[in-house]
Amino acid sequence: MAACFSVCRLHMRGADRLLKLCPNSDLQAQRRLARTTFATKAQTVNKTLHAAPTSVESFSSIQDERRERAERSVLISCPPKINERKFLDYLSKHGDIRNYFFYQTYGMYAVVEFSSKESIAALQGSCTIPSVQHEASVPFKSRLLSLKWTGSIGPTTLNCQEQLPISINELIQQLSKQESIDQQMQCLTEAYQLTEENISLRFLVCSLLRDIAAAYFPECIIRPFGSTVNSFGKLGCDLDMFLDLDGVSGQNKKKGSGLSLEYQVKRGASERNVTQSILSVIAECVDQFSPGCVGVQKILNARCPLVRFSHQPSGFQCDLTANNRVAIKSSELLFVYGSLDARVRYLVFTVRCWARVHGITSGIPGAWITNFSLTVLVLFFLQQRTPAVLPTLDQLRDLAGPSDKCVIEGNDCTIVSDLSKIKLQGNTDTLEKLLQEFFEFYGSFAFNRSSINIRKGIEQNKPEAAALHIQNPFEPNLNVSKNVNATQIERFVALCRESAWLLQQGEVLKRSAAQSADQIPPWGLAALLLPSVAESAGVKGRRKKKREPASERIKTLLQSLKSGRGGAGEKQSSDDQRH
Ligand code: GTP
Ligand code: MG
Repeated sequence: MAACFSVCRLHMRGADRLLKLCPNSDLQAQRRLARTTFATKAQTVNKTLHAAPTSVESFSSIQDERRERAERSVLISCPPKINERKFLDYLSKHGDIRNYFFYQTYGMYAVVEFSSKESIAALQGSCTIPSVQHEASVPFKSRLLSLKWTGSIGPTTLNCQEQLPISINELIQQLSKQESIDQQMQCLTEAYQLTEENISLRFLVCSLLRDIAAAYFPECIIRPFGSTVNSFGKLGCDLDMFLDLDGVSGQNKKKGSGLSLEYQVKRGASERNVTQSILSVIAECVDQFSPGCVGVQKILNARCPLVRFSHQPSGFQCDLTANNRVAIKSSELLFVYGSLDARVRYLVFTVRCWARVHGITSGIPGAWITNFSLTVLVLFFLQQRTPAVLPTLDQLRDLAGPSDKCVIEGNDCTIVSDLSKIKLQGNTDTLEKLLQEFFEFYGSFAFNRSSINIRKGIEQNKPEAAALHIQNPFEPNLNVSKNVNATQIERFVALCRESAWLLQQGEVLKRSAAQSADQIPPWGLAALLLPSVAESAGVKGRRKKKREPASERIKTLLQSLKSGRGGAGEKQSSDDQRH
């Protein structure tokens, strides 16, 4: 289920205040919150887009801080009409409120963050378990509460703000109003990226779930991973969670000589077996006791066993895994790459959106390219630029300090956590150029024989037959895109070629004048997002007109488009044409 919610009001007096309140918030959050008008931002694009990181907080400290805030928060279902002042006065009796906001899914909800955990205990002390007629309540005291409002409400003061991801048509309209493709890519990212409130809600859902799991494993942590934390999350994306039991099992102290005690434990046939039984029990608990969690499915025979459910109050589709530490590390890696240069996120958001619109990616599992694989494709492309926009994974490992050392199941997953150590190579390509060249790069990539390796930043011979081979960054023997079939990669290549061609056409690149801003015909990136670009009459019409002199590369691409030759894997251009 797609998350659909609207934040009514973030109780902040401007971005500065929040930055003071949350001194640890990540740079992106700061960038979002310190939002000036888009025009102002866009004007400074070339000055700020490829700035090297100065001091970016480490991934783990950002996550720890968000988790700690979630532990001091409650989620309250509210009546549709509510007096904000009275609501806050009532809750403030139990402690200082640090932050709050309202949002709407299937009803009105408030996320309220207190200054201390003791306030939560005080608040819960005043809550009652409802008595229900003809049924019985499970007496589980969670932090998902319902506000009952009797008596007069008084003036309702909520200032509701929609926070749904906008529709593709609305997006195309907004993009068409921008002045350049660079601005369009930034505008798309701004419109789609997770908001600060959405991320807080995601951490709160993890924290609520932890309360259930803690009944068995008090030291456990439920950590979000994937697009919730990797900086590439789009509003409405799923909530990937990982049950981390290292706090329980990782406390093996060195045995000295003499006496010692150890826990008696049940044994399972394998790690996988133990993971499956833990997830199975947690799934039962979530299903039976956890308010708001519905449609619980145990998918325990998957390569990575998981429990899937919907969290109704947030609208999130949740996937809970265990023993999946490498996925957290992959999320950190993506986060690091996304933090190094602002263009990375703009390009990834743009390519992800483009791919989704054209059915290259899908919400349904199958032979499609996943967002994760697509992101790795973008990162690899950025490593191939001259000068490179991004360092290789080996370079990130070589910069790591002793405390960054990380080995998971025998695989070296070490990456530098102090991003200020990373020196970028000074690439200054515009976003438009990067987008254009991304399409050209993959429009002529030898997918039939080459594998993509972001660890070394090189193409390698495929070690096994697969339509698309992307080496798993941290598990080099695995292919992250094993699921992709030849048809899907051919479609991807064909669309890359077509988009590269479109981005060379004067008419596509030209922003026409219109009587009102809402009537500007789609151009630039907006034109690339139109459904079935090649078939649309407009484009056919354009093709008949005289074209501007195209570069050699585009000529080659055009040739293959026209003749229908050059399926996936046929290398259309020599390597030097890449740069
Ligand atoms: P969305 O499509 O927005 O949900 O993107 P996502 O990055 O969250 O992808 P998804 O929910 O499919 O997977 C969650 C995370 O699991 C990814 O970000 C990766 O860290 C990891 N992951 C997904 N697929 C693979 C894979 O094939 N191999 C490995 N090693 N990790 C994967
Ligand atoms: Mg996900």
